Amino acid sequence: MLIDSYGRVVDYLRVSVTERCNFRCRYCMPEEGIENLGHQSVLSYEEMFEFIKICLDNGVTKIRLTGGEPLVRSGIENFIAMINGYKPGLDLAMTTNGFLLAKKAQALKDAGLKRLNISLDSLDPKKANFLARKDVLEHVLEGIKTACELGFGVKLNTVALKGVNDAELVELMDFAKSCNAQIRYIEFMENSHASGELKGLRKDDILGIICQKYNLKEITKSPNSPSSLFKLEDGYKFGIIDPHKHDFCATCNRLRLSAEGLLIPCLYYEDGKSIREAMRAGDIKKACEILREVIANKPEKNKWENDGKGEISSRAFYQTGG
Ligand code: 5AD
Ligand code: SF4
Repeated sequence: MLIDSYGRVVDYLRVSVTERCNFRCRYCMPEEGIENLGHQSVLSYEEMFEFIKICLDNGVTKIRLTGGEPLVRSGIENFIAMINGYKPGLDLAMTTNGFLLAKKAQALKDAGLKRLNISLDSLDPKKANFLARKDVLEHVLEGIKTACELGFGVKLNTVALKGVNDAELVELMDFAKSCNAQIRYIEFMENSHASGELKGLRKDDILGIICQKYNLKEITKSPNSPSSLFKLEDGYKFGIIDPHKHDFCATCNRLRLSAEGLLIPCLYYEDGKSIREAMRAGDIKKACEILREVIANKPEKNKWENDGKGEISSRAFYQTGG
C-alpha cells in the first residue's frame, strides 16, 4: 500500500496522456495554445504502462486518464486495453472534452473503460464556442449521447461562470438528468494560464440558482471525493466542487503522472519528480524508489490560495488534467 506521512492511503492515480488539446478553453489555456512537448519528452504508452503496473502492484485501485485531451493521442484504446488486461475489473475512467467521443466510444468500451467525465459548460452553441474558442457543442452532445447509450457511467463537468452560463445552470442539470448523468458544477479555479476576465460563481451562488427551481438537501459524499453532494426531491444527485472553501486535502488519495513522466503529489503544489529516466532505463527499482519518495513527501495541504491574498497558481490544467 502507498501511505503518505500523514497516514493517507494513496490508491488513485491520474495519468495525463498528453498536454495537447483540440480546445482552447478560456479557463485553461491561452488562445494561442501551448508549446508542443517534443515527441521525445512524452512517455510512450509502454513506459506509462510499466509505471502503472508498479502502482497497481502497490495498492492503486482506480485510474483516470486525462490530458490535455486524452482522445487526441492516438492508440489510447490500446493503452486502455493494456491496463485493463493487467487488472480486469479495475476502476478505469477518463476525463474528456467529448469532441472526439462519438467516434471513439465503442472502442473505449471494448477496451475496458468504465466511466467518463465529460465537460459541458453550455447548451448554447455560441457560448460553448466562446468558452472553447471553437465550434464544439454539436460534437460534444453527440459524444455524450453515444457514451450514455453504450452504458458508460457518465458525469458532466460544468465550470460555473458569471455572465457566461449562470442563466443556464438549471437547464444544464435538466439535460444531465435526461441523460441519467450526474452533473458536477465546478468553481472556476483561477490560474495564470486562464483568461483574466473570467469570474467564477461560488458554491452558494450555484445553490441559490438551483434552489429557484428545485428543493434540495445536502447528503453525505463519498469520503475521497472532492465534490459536495446534493439530492433533489426526486432523488437526482448532483455535485459541486468548491476548492475555494472546501478542504479536500485531509482525505486526498490522489497521485498524478504527467505526460512527461513527472510524478505530482498535489494539483496545487509546484513540486514533482520525474520517473522518465528510470522508466527509459528499465530501472523498476529506481522508479519504485521515486514513487515512495514522492508519496512520503506528499504535502499536507495544497499551496493554492486565491482569495486575493495568495499567488495565482501556475499549475496548468492541461498538464495535470484537473
Ligand atoms: N477551473 C475549474 N475547472 C477547470 N477545468 C479545467 N480548468 C479549470 C479551471 N481553471 C476542468 C474542466 C474540465 C476538467 C478537465 O477540468 O471542467 O472538465
Ligand atoms: Fe482542453 Fe480540457 Fe483545457 Fe479545455 S479544459 S483546453 S478541453 S485541456
